[in-house]
Amino acid sequence: MAFPDHRQVITVPDAAALAKAAAERIIARIAANKDRVAICLTGGSSPKQLYSLLATDTYRDQIPWDRVHWFIGDERFVRADDPLNNMSMARQSFLDRNAPGANIHPIPTDTATPKESARRYESELKSFYGAEVLDPTRPLFDLVLMGVGPDGHTASLFPDYPAVEEIERWVVGVPQAHVEPFVPRVTLTLPALNSCREMLFEVAGSEKRAILTRVLDGENLPANRARSTGETIWLVDTAALPEHFRGR
Ligand code: 6PG
Repeated sequence: MAFPDHRQVITVPDAAALAKAAAERIIARIAANKDRVAICLTGGSSPKQLYSLLATDTYRDQIPWDRVHWFIGDERFVRADDPLNNMSMARQSFLDRNAPGANIHPIPTDTATPKESARRYESELKSFYGAEVLDPTRPLFDLVLMGVGPDGHTASLFPDYPAVEEIERWVVGVPQAHVEPFVPRVTLTLPALNSCREMLFEVAGSEKRAILTRVLDGENLPANRARSTGETIWLVDTAALPEHFRGR
């Protein structure tokens, strides 16, 4: 289904089909790049099924683990062993059993402040990328995975927060979250997230229908400003799809 805007919306029957479609897109992106691959993961509950799927033989065996690097688009400023930690969830679901430790790039949360954490992660990203400035012809990531929150936030870019307007920094600290969990965050900014060959949103469940309606109506929300310089795909299950978008 193609909407007359920057994104392609792909609808699938349910959350299980959504995880499978996302896994297949990740595998295809990895296969398309014979060199070093960079995938930026996301937190929240939406990607959990996908991460479990990537740990199964079918998908695990298709990933050349030694040349794929795993980053995270935002982090809750909690210790690495806290259940709220986004990268730890991904590590436990599939990374730790498969990826070499040096290929896993968590946002550090053992710093004094989220700002300091952001500074460190930005310098890690720049060193991985090999330049201080993003070149539009050479995206930072092969694929960036995203979710959308009830207020239209994505990563930890909350509506009307200064982080959404950041154009210089690649990573910033967010002292206060706009929705649960109310812990400080560290987030990649739009210039860094958008620097990718593919941005892939996962949206499932009827509780997402209200925000998806606003997103697809083109409202000025952070989730609508997150868009790849290449392909932007919204994978949506039937329960989340607004009535008036069905069949379009
Ligand atoms: C986070 C996320 C955030 C998330 C959305 C959707 O740290 O919470 O990275 O941006 O993707 O809030 O969350 P759910 O998948 O839990 O609905």
